[in-house]
Amino acid sequence: MDRIQIRGGAALNGVIPISGAKNAALPLMIASLLTDQTLTLENLPRLADVAQLAHILGNHGVDYSIDGKRIGEDTGSGQTAHLRARTIVDTSAPYELVAKMRASFWVIAPLVARMGAARVSLPGGCAIGTRPVDLLLMALEKLGAQIDIDGGYAVAKAPKGLIGAEIEFPKVTVGGTHVAMMAASTARGATLIRNAAREPEVADLAACLNKMGARIRGAGSSTIEIEGVARLNGAHHRVLPDRIEAGTYATAVAMTGGDLMLEGVGEDLLEEALEALTAAGATVTSDNRGVRVRRNGAGLKAVDIATAPFPGFPTDLQAQFMALMTRARGVSRIKETIFENRFMHVQELARLGASIKLEGDTAIVSGVKRLRGAPVMATDLRASVSLVIAGLAADGETIVNRVYHLDRGFERLEEKLGACGADIARIAG
Ligand code: EPZ
Repeated sequence: MDRIQIRGGAALNGVIPISGAKNAALPLMIASLLTDQTLTLENLPRLADVAQLAHILGNHGVDYSIDGKRIGEDTGSGQTAHLRARTIVDTSAPYELVAKMRASFWVIAPLVARMGAARVSLPGGCAIGTRPVDLLLMALEKLGAQIDIDGGYAVAKAPKGLIGAEIEFPKVTVGGTHVAMMAASTARGATLIRNAAREPEVADLAACLNKMGARIRGAGSSTIEIEGVARLNGAHHRVLPDRIEAGTYATAVAMTGGDLMLEGVGEDLLEEALEALTAAGATVTSDNRGVRVRRNGAGLKAVDIATAPFPGFPTDLQAQFMALMTRARGVSRIKETIFENRFMHVQELARLGASIKLEGDTAIVSGVKRLRGAPVMATDLRASVSLVIAGLAADGETIVNRVYHLDRGFERLEEKLGACGADIARIAG
């Protein structure tokens, strides 16, 4: 298993091109199941999760091809993929595949919408919490699907097709909103989604579905209206930039000091996270090229945050921000409101010398003057990258084990950081 070796202490200076968003790419790829025509996605990140989902979609009958390299193209630019589900050959998704990547459960929506039937394994627990799918199934039931749980599988049936309905989510759910939008796009009649997730990835999926012929209004706000259409077509869509990747590098430069241009991302995708970094002592500016984050030699200040659905502070940046706060002056309170078990990085940060106490859903971080390198490992990708951030500022050598977590969600992490001055390398093994 590969490991990442970091020798801490170097500032980060330079330009980091931000890749297409993993969490937009996955639902966009799944939307290809809704039509028998070709969906072309540009700026698809080169990630293990994207490859894994392509494999899962292949089992349902999706032909998947990636354009070859073009003249003058650098390896940093995203891929262009063509997905065509001319015929759905299998409406079931087995446990072995769904357990590897929770988002693959979302195939249930296009399968039941297009084929009137789907049998998809329940995803089970995961490292960051219980993560149930009850609200996704509730949305499909509202749209007229009959749902049974049988042998660990969710079995959805709608032989006469789905029917538009009003869906009110009792809790904001990104996956629930994706599923409801995909299923309602070809339902008979109108659907109203209340308390929808406002994440930019939801708006990106809606924009793509609309290019495919759907009639969706309001995505990106908490009320989404959908007028069902008889069928969807192929389309061309560019995946939006990855705000979590950008926020991760913004946090890294706040940690190490230096000056980074995060190319291709807009401040609007990251507002609250950038505000927190500014309060901690970074300087953030932006122009049409991207977001620039700097910090000179001055010390970091402790800042309290609480994760929340967009536009709040993203749970997917909580671990990274905690790593930053381990070196701040004072005490920072970090409250996790989305997932109940997303503190697996705490013990590993402690191995580097951090002082963190857990009180229920809140981590209390007392800043220390220095961190010291150590071997560490993590159980999910955001936790893993928080250890990279800590390692970049720690004295001596940090080895991050289980790099496959990082490969799920960060494209060429060590290359991007290395090009900006970090002493970081991948050790194959
Ligand atoms: C998406 O997960 C992201 N995944 C996650 O990113 C992200 O952390 C999360 O949204 C929150 O922003 C992808 O986009 C592929 P939710 P999702 O449904 O959709 C509860 C990463 O690191 N809930 O918005 O699965 C749930 O337990 C990943 O890239 C129910 O109770 O998250 C959680 O407490 C990790 N019942 C809350 O809602 C349900 O049926 C929000 O979850 C569904 C969710």
